[in-house]
Amino acid sequence: MHADARSPIGVFDSGVGGLSVLQALCEALPHERFVYYADTAHAPYGERGDAYVLARTLAVANDLVEGRGVKALVVACNTATAAAIHELRALWPGLPIVGVEPALKPAVAASRTGRIAVLATRGTLASAKFRRLQETAAPRAQVAAVPCDGLADAIERADAAETEALCARYMQAAGPFGAGAGETDTVVLGCTHYPFATGVLRRHAPASVRFLDTGAPVSLRTRQLLAEAGLLAGPGAAGGI
Ligand code: DGL
Repeated sequence: MHADARSPIGVFDSGVGGLSVLQALCEALPHERFVYYADTAHAPYGERGDAYVLARTLAVANDLVEGRGVKALVVACNTATAAAIHELRALWPGLPIVGVEPALKPAVAASRTGRIAVLATRGTLASAKFRRLQETAAPRAQVAAVPCDGLADAIERADAAETEALCARYMQAAGPFGAGAGETDTVVLGCTHYPFATGVLRRHAPASVRFLDTGAPVSLRTRQLLAEAGLLAGPGAAGGI
């Protein structure tokens, strides 16, 4: 389907998590229109295995690209990015496609202790993509990878009691926290659902601990790819709205 600068940007996730990315996109790209696809009938993705997540991601992307004519695709889901980003790029080579990955590079730059915790789904942490990221971005850091089974689902269902219990459990595994050697001083939120629980997670760590998510870098990357493709909307842009 033909897309131009007036076409919307497609953003998707297994559920509400990608809204944390959409918020950053709306701030960085105020002239753009967005179509948000929450695949809630098939969520959560995190514990389902690669084949399932790949199939769902291709189905949703096909709907957005071929059905709704989006001019760019933001895969606002770490689990779907890990399972399917290469296939998406092979299927639509001319389309700007932005994925998300745990913010390990910024975490390495920010950490003083060299001990970083990554909270993410089991699928993301088990992926070859995450293994490569860890090898290239954090070869010397001590990374506590914490698979947070059930947390995205609890956030999705807005179950406050379960979210609280799971956050307590997973933050225990992410510690010990502190500013000394061998202590965690930086927590990477490697699932787009988790920024919605930042307040709860923070209660289980000292105030000095940093929490990093990926909304801002993803929105900057999206703007860069749209600009390079001549597809930015807005006053003065070609075909602007
Ligand atoms: N929000 C997703 C992520 O960033 C996945 C959550 C899920 O469906 O398990 O990984």
